[in-house]
Parts: sequence; C-alpha cells; structure tokens
Amino acid sequence: MKAYEVLLNDNKKWAARKLEEDPDFFDRLLHLQTPEFLWIGCSDSRVPANEITDTQPGEIFVHRNVANLVVNTDVNLLSVLDYAVNHLQVRHVIVCGHYGCGGIRAAITNNDFKPVLNMWLRNIKDVYRLHREELDAITDEDKKTNRLTELNVKEQVFNLAKTSIIQRAWKKEQRPDLHGWVYGLNDGLINPVYEMKAGTHIDELYEYDDL
Ligand code: CO
Repeated sequence: MKAYEVLLNDNKKWAARKLEEDPDFFDRLLHLQTPEFLWIGCSDSRVPANEITDTQPGEIFVHRNVANLVVNTDVNLLSVLDYAVNHLQVRHVIVCGHYGCGGIRAAITNNDFKPVLNMWLRNIKDVYRLHREELDAITDEDKKTNRLTELNVKEQVFNLAKTSIIQRAWKKEQRPDLHGWVYGLNDGLINPVYEMKAGTHIDELYEYDDL
C-alpha cells in the first residue's frame, strides 16, 4: 500500500469509529459550525490544534503558516480572520507558537534561504530587532530562540490588534480576546505567555476612527 493510501484507509476506520461512538456526530456538524476559537498556529506537523487541546472537529477554526505570523498584507490570513470574527463570531483568537520552531531558528541565522522564504522570515527578524536588547543579552542559543518564540507570539497578537477587523469587533461587540501561547514539543504543555483583552488600547497611531 502506498503511503497516501494508508491515510485514506485510516480515514475510513476513523469515520466508522466516530459513528460508533456517536451516531449523530456527522449529522450535527453538517448543519452547524460554531467554533468559539480561531487558532493561528505554526504549520509544523507536530503542533496540530485539535489534538494538543483535546478538542473535536467543529470546536476550533484554524489557520496555520510558518512560525504563526500575522502579516498585514496576507490576504489568506486576513480572510480567515474576517470570516472567523465577523461570521463565526469567535470569542477568542489564539496565536500559538512552539518552542524549537524551525522558522524562528532560521530567522536568526544569516543564511540566504532565497525568495520567498527570505521574505517570510524577514518578519521574524523585525521582531528580533524590536527586542534586540533583551535577546542579545541571552547567551544560550536555545534560550534565546525560545524567548524570541515567546516575543514573536506577543508581537503577532499586537499585529492582530492593529487590524481594523479586530478593532471594529472590539468597539461593537467587546470581543474577541487575543491570546499568545507557546507549545512545548518536549512535554506537550502550552505556556500562555501573553493576553490582550478586547478593547485594549494599543499605540494610538494604529487606532482607527470611524470604525
Ligand atoms: Co514552527
């Protein structure tokens, strides 16, 4: 059997098992999608949102990219954010990075990864530069990378707060709250490193009037 055929085969077994546990499982989800959470995570195969939070299909709306970045020209991410906030009306947006992230590690090298990876990783270099003083003082490379991972999710939470999508929802409905989390590959535990409640004032330069 080819590798991908194993996936299709296991899918059949999974669907049968779900039906056995709960005969209405698929019927219920067919007519209703009301997740409370939007998850913006790393594409890393070891950090699957549902599995590490022990949630089921239907509970988390998910966007993933390399190093869980919120880039203000990323039409893909902004479409997901718009849909999750304005149509699904999620109450929480979670940016979840992970310790040992290859994207973060790559960004603090001087390697030329060629376009388009250079373009993407540039966003992480900018996070480093914002926090250079703190990061330069950390001599242990792993600790430095881990701290940058934490600062990165915090900056991505700020990037969310800079969007008119989030600011409009905050003004009109006092939601969603924003969260920056970092998952540990070594112990499976999530470290909640930063939280921004709905309505928080950020630098006024980024705050829109007439929302
Ligand atoms: Co990663």
